Amino acid sequence: MKKKILVTGGLGFIGSHTVVCLHEAGFEPIIIDNLSNSLMSAMDGIQSLIGYKPTFINADVNDKIALSNLIESHKPEAIIHFAAFKAVGESVEKPLMYYHNNLGGLISVLEVMQQHNLSNLVFSSSCTVYGEPDTVPVSESTSTKPAQSPYGATKQMGEIILNDNASWCNTQCLRYFNPIGAHPTAALGELPLGVPNNLIPFLTQTVAGIRKELTIFGSDYETPDGTCIRDYIHVMDLAEAHVKAVERLLNKQQLESFEVFNIGTGNGFSVLEVIRSFEEENKIAVPHKIGPRRPGDVVKVWADTTKVENVLGWKAKRGLNEMMRDAWNWQLKLNQNT
Ligand code: UFG
Repeated sequence: MKKKILVTGGLGFIGSHTVVCLHEAGFEPIIIDNLSNSLMSAMDGIQSLIGYKPTFINADVNDKIALSNLIESHKPEAIIHFAAFKAVGESVEKPLMYYHNNLGGLISVLEVMQQHNLSNLVFSSSCTVYGEPDTVPVSESTSTKPAQSPYGATKQMGEIILNDNASWCNTQCLRYFNPIGAHPTAALGELPLGVPNNLIPFLTQTVAGIRKELTIFGSDYETPDGTCIRDYIHVMDLAEAHVKAVERLLNKQQLESFEVFNIGTGNGFSVLEVIRSFEEENKIAVPHKIGPRRPGDVVKVWADTTKVENVLGWKAKRGLNEMMRDAWNWQLKLNQNT
């Protein structure tokens, strides 16, 4: 019988891709998602890729009874906990909502896990915990900086909570850099609700004619071309990292009960380089202008991937052009459906 893995937020951007990769690796994914930032159409995409609809309940992870019943009836071997809010700007406007959902949700998951003697967890953390680093690339031992937003604070506190529970809970804490792209078949991708905050969905919507032009937030930073630098990672590479993390938990390979890994490519690209890569790959221009800096933006950050390569045995395989190709194909698919 296949080992079951419970995926909270399994219909979201990263969750849905991970569900597909879990299936391909021989696991049976079980999904809990409250559809607060996802759509049931992701289930159709999953079904088209794996041939069936995984078990799904529409519930909030803060609903401990629903979570407990699901665990009781399916007895998963591990949980991948994606379900959380992720918009930096929104978290500044609605901090309580972020603390309640992201920390309350994590505590709820942990309490129910403890109740069921389930002790394997993969946690979605973020490179945002590094803040504006003094040196790049950042390694897992680089000290974290005070969070720039309530969103970032929830990731830092989430890590603290998990570290404090390391006596009974084995955690793979994955610090994602900037996940972009989509499934290469365009069956799955990002579904931003409303005006996107993030670079790639705004860019693809601009090229699709939904937005007039992309504004580059600042061109006077201390970087080679003046625009901010990030470590963009293909969502499929990221999804595959989760499978590796689950396997490490189930094979009891952890050296410590709370382990942290940077999930990035190790390469930094500026906003202008991203635009250029999109234009080159898709042979289409990106209307853009330079605007003022966005408050709270880190100037440059990219991952030191030595630990994740050597210890987890995972390395990103897909390059920036592939990310741009898949992001654009996904946008084209969305255009067809509207
Ligand atoms: N950018 C633009 N114009 C835009 C949008 C973004 O120039 O319209 C620039 C930003 O200034 C930044 C880069 O593109 O330099 C990437 O910005 P994103 O908003 O795509 O992502 P961030 O680097 O701000 O990532 C942050 C956190 C992540 C979190 C993510 C999700 O660091 O942890 O937001 O919202 F997951």
